[in-house]
Amino acid sequence: MKHIRNLTLATAICSVLLSCQEKKAESTIGADAAVEARVEQILSQMTLAEKIGQMNQVSAGGDVAIYADALRKGQIGSILNEVDPVKINEYQRICMEESRLGIPLLVARDVIHGYHTVFPIPLGLAATFDPALVEEGARVAALEATAQGIRWTFSPMLDIARDPRWGRIAEGSGEDTFLDARMAEAMVHGYQGREADTTSMAACIKHFVGYGAAEGGRDYNSTFLTERQLRNVYLPPFEAAVKAGAMTLMTSFNDNDGVPSTGNTFVVKDVLRGEWGFDGLVVTDWNSMGEMIAHGFGVDRKDVAEKALEAGVDMDMMTYGFLSHLEELVRSGAVKESAINQAVRNILRVKVLLGLFEHPYVDVTAGDAVQYAPEHLAAAQKSAEESAILLKNDGVLPLNPASVRNILVTGPMADAPHDQLGTWAFDGQKNHTVTPLAALQARFPGKVTYVPGLTYSREKRERFDDVMAAARRADVVLVFLGEEAILSGEAHSLADLNLKGSQSELLAAVKSAGKPVVATVMAGRPLTIERDLPNCGALLYAFHPGTMGGPALANILFGDVNPSGKTPITFLRTVGQAPLYYSHNMTGRPYNNETLLDEIPAEAGQTSLGNTSYYLDYGAYPLFPFGYGLSYTSFSYSGVSLDREVYGKDDVITVSFSLANTGQYEGEEVVQVYVRDLVGSITRPVKELKHFERVALRPGERRSLQVQIPVCSLAFVGLDGIKKVEPGEFQLWVAGDSASGDPLSFKVQ
Ligand code: GLC
Repeated sequence: MKHIRNLTLATAICSVLLSCQEKKAESTIGADAAVEARVEQILSQMTLAEKIGQMNQVSAGGDVAIYADALRKGQIGSILNEVDPVKINEYQRICMEESRLGIPLLVARDVIHGYHTVFPIPLGLAATFDPALVEEGARVAALEATAQGIRWTFSPMLDIARDPRWGRIAEGSGEDTFLDARMAEAMVHGYQGREADTTSMAACIKHFVGYGAAEGGRDYNSTFLTERQLRNVYLPPFEAAVKAGAMTLMTSFNDNDGVPSTGNTFVVKDVLRGEWGFDGLVVTDWNSMGEMIAHGFGVDRKDVAEKALEAGVDMDMMTYGFLSHLEELVRSGAVKESAINQAVRNILRVKVLLGLFEHPYVDVTAGDAVQYAPEHLAAAQKSAEESAILLKNDGVLPLNPASVRNILVTGPMADAPHDQLGTWAFDGQKNHTVTPLAALQARFPGKVTYVPGLTYSREKRERFDDVMAAARRADVVLVFLGEEAILSGEAHSLADLNLKGSQSELLAAVKSAGKPVVATVMAGRPLTIERDLPNCGALLYAFHPGTMGGPALANILFGDVNPSGKTPITFLRTVGQAPLYYSHNMTGRPYNNETLLDEIPAEAGQTSLGNTSYYLDYGAYPLFPFGYGLSYTSFSYSGVSLDREVYGKDDVITVSFSLANTGQYEGEEVVQVYVRDLVGSITRPVKELKHFERVALRPGERRSLQVQIPVCSLAFVGLDGIKKVEPGEFQLWVAGDSASGDPLSFKVQ
């Protein structure tokens, strides 16, 4: 696994450099002449009906016999939602031995953040700012899933999300394009492996495109992203993933600017296929083809099937639109068979690359040994440790294991083995989950008192006498709060982001007992926790940390691990501030700490308040900015300098600085480099992340560091629609979060 870490870091730097050279690969998914010859040889034998059958994907989690006849007729190219290796082998056997051409199935599953060993939700993985670790986790997921016959996952999700009301914010890498792109590369490499073999699981980059910009944060809602916004913010992570060799892509449910993605010729055929040369497989989302009728974009299944094929879609998930109407559309001349041939090539290419023709079956006896292997659990625990973000600490943390005699554990998330896994963890078995309560009881036998206080997050209670009594007897109170897995994920958007039920009241009650209080929040999104901060000495934000969340959090709380997570998403003061993100435009009236309502005396009358872009009651600053996270130690940046003052467009900026660990604990800092383009042909963000890396330092250690930022990585699509670096004045920050540091100036000529 170590090998991957170094390789990935080098790859990350190279990928930024390579991304500046807009060159189109022969094949984006690694096909070569032999693969293409094989594909053509198979295609040449297929009837039109058999070709169309390959373009049909069904959910097959029931009895194999249900689909046996369709398989024999070659009417199914892929199944999803079957996880029993014995059944998967039987599906494949019917295809290989009882159909005319013996074309194996692509067996798919939503392996989103781990298969059996569940890792933190992707938003938590992004908080690690550790692509190498994320790649290791994706590799673990592939090892476990492929051992049971699953060779295609519908992950990574690359949807940039800037509205925490959207429940699927849990499944992506947050608000930032650069971080999202690095995480995308890492997960594609992890799932597919650096070399294709029987442990390769085809990645599926989704949801193409703009799905996370749903108006109002309501899932499935329309988006209204301009082409420039698409090209500067939402498309780059997909392009990075295509360059990393992603084998497949999924179209999204949303209509953007009036066009549903599954019928959007511009993004799929013109950009993905035409500009990027993507020759992988494009699959719709679940019935997203059929949903174009509800959108009012098509009159019936035949119409939307034609529109999807025209847009460049290869495979239909659960509409049966292709299976039902493509043959008729070809016969009528509405659709050319050449378009179908191209779709089938893209499907067969993935099957050939995965080696499915040679290895369609899985060894059902070997699969179990791989599941929950110790090294897998260790990787999941390390991911959970690095994903936790320390948002507040008045010094109560780290706790001293030697001095505690009675630890009170309370809160609805202290012992929630299913919910700790988070959303989209279908195959995580809760009996393998180690909860914080279990981990603490194992570590401090006889010293842990457990009084839940609330049995679930939405429970309402007037009094907490039982918890208060226990708190008064305790040395320290550990409160585990948050939301169940069901409160985030698909179709689970929220209009109120405060802690649900009586959780805040529980925390306040515990605080009034007068003992040290540490709150840990496990959630699928950044909740609005401002009102809870005064009621705890420290607050650790763990998102949903997965199978090994308990030991990971115990290690952090008791100082075995120094927290290093950083916010991959802005934390709002109140939901009314949404959307609020660090890389916003300046506007003509930038907020500058103007007076807020509660600072104005009641008799002020009609006073002229600030005339800038903010909220009278909550201002325009977040509770915690992007890239923020505390440590048990402290880091100081000094001597930040640039190697030149003026750069050409083909130059590389060398940033030099010193980083010192000025505290008492060894720790890792996520160094971040931001750049601002002061003036452009269009208005530009106040800053954008252009580099990050984790730096480990011992107490007192100081290190001189250098970071390379290619000038070409400052390119954007401007008024003329051309991606390029525009000359002018720039600013650059090196800091530990998006709101800190002093800018250096430089020019590009
Ligand atoms: C769902 C999701 C998609 C998932 C697919 C298959 O509706 O939108 O992310 O991969 O269906 O489960």
